[in-house]
Amino acid sequence: MKIAIIGTGYVGLTTAVVLAYLNHEVAAVDKDTHKLKRLHEGKSPIHEPGIQTLLDEVGYTIRFTPSVAEVVPEAELILIAVGTPPKKNGEADTRHVEQAAREVAQVCHPNRHYTLVVKSTVPIGTNLRVAEVVDEVFATRGIQGNVSVASNPEFLQEGLALQGAFYPDRIVVGAHCDDAIDALRRLYQPLLEQTFDPPSTFPRPETYHLPPMMTTDPSSAEMLKYAANTFLALKISFINEIAGLCEKVGADVTEVARGIGLDTRIGHRFLQAGLGWGGSCYPKDTAALLGVAAQWEYAMPITEAARAVNFRQREVIVEKLRDAFKTCCGEKNAMQGKTVGILGLAFKPNTDDVRSAPALDIIRCLVAAGASVRAHDPIAMPNAEKDLQDLMALDRTTVDFQEDVYRLSHGADALVLVTEWDIYHRLELRRLAKQMRTPILIDGRNVYSPHEAREAGFHYVGVGR
Ligand code: UDX
Repeated sequence: MKIAIIGTGYVGLTTAVVLAYLNHEVAAVDKDTHKLKRLHEGKSPIHEPGIQTLLDEVGYTIRFTPSVAEVVPEAELILIAVGTPPKKNGEADTRHVEQAAREVAQVCHPNRHYTLVVKSTVPIGTNLRVAEVVDEVFATRGIQGNVSVASNPEFLQEGLALQGAFYPDRIVVGAHCDDAIDALRRLYQPLLEQTFDPPSTFPRPETYHLPPMMTTDPSSAEMLKYAANTFLALKISFINEIAGLCEKVGADVTEVARGIGLDTRIGHRFLQAGLGWGGSCYPKDTAALLGVAAQWEYAMPITEAARAVNFRQREVIVEKLRDAFKTCCGEKNAMQGKTVGILGLAFKPNTDDVRSAPALDIIRCLVAAGASVRAHDPIAMPNAEKDLQDLMALDRTTVDFQEDVYRLSHGADALVLVTEWDIYHRLELRRLAKQMRTPILIDGRNVYSPHEAREAGFHYVGVGR
């Protein structure tokens, strides 16, 4: 099929590469000339495991262009995958989605049928609005266009985006008309039936079952995306709330999570207590859901609590550090003049994304309390530096970014493990503890066993144990 994708962010680019791999004829539109330049050079503008290999393999078949007019008229299916950034009040801003729909409608042939698919995460009712926008443009053009609008939410997990795209749990389509559903079924046929030869970098998991394609109305599809993300967010917040109580009563949250996860109704995943969630989705989508609820004057105390618990976790970690300094150094103003090493800046491993990353809030808090900060991340340091620009503008040395964990820990007073990157699972704890001024390890992701860390000489503090 001939596909045009508007937007080449995480969702747009992953979708483009996967659909090209599945032998569709793909064109991808983006206004960002910097991104396009990289894509024309065959380089991925985002960090995502496996994406560069696939771009090398099929990237040359994808037409990357800044022009909607160049590719949309001949396309059968147009996917909108532009950003919906949060507005000041938390609601998702759908301006770019509407603008994309407008531009599409301006160049559609009057005599052809198109399926216009919204993949971006959008507030409930946006698909209806997109259909209105298209009709408005057709009215001004004085034509009777033929566009079916459908919702097809993505469930992309950064760091696992391609794995999830080749082997989805489900495909959701929200549409009122059969021709849109039919077009999307044809688009995803190779995934639904798993008829493609798996790429060598993403072999098909042995236990993988064919994914269902669920069809529903557009509003339910939009709602379902928010509900899925909010549910996962609150699952994590729930275990973090339990973790706090575990610390009080002397229980170990990792044991509790193991035990409750054995109940198949609950399951093991997304029960890792720690610093909580960050990233571009959960913070934004839970806020957007509350924004929708507010418009309907509907209270959502569970969603509000999930957010409150999540952001409290960042303060909890700083408190743990303060307490550890008091215990180990016995000083009143425990943070002043201390050197703290932050391990991990990305909001989770395998991505360079620092949006709403706990590490950034923790760094700001430490700097405000008078500590010196050293920071390490395998790939997210440049993005973190950009985000912390205001702090760095005051003093370039406020955060000392270090390429090597062992150099970072030399003479430091404490380490805070924020992101559970693989390399942090294999640290030589004994060596680290020896070269620090005070060997304190605040393990914000429960990567190490308390026993192992203490044996190595650390004053160890995890979460909920
Ligand atoms: C999420 C959803 O998983 C995806 O379906 C949706 O489309 C976009 O939002 P993503 O933000 O990439 O994807 O990350 P995810 O893997 O879900 O993790 C989100 C955050 O939760 C991370 O900060 C992670 O560290 C944290 N997390 C996850 C926990 O703290 N504990 C857990 O048990 C799992």
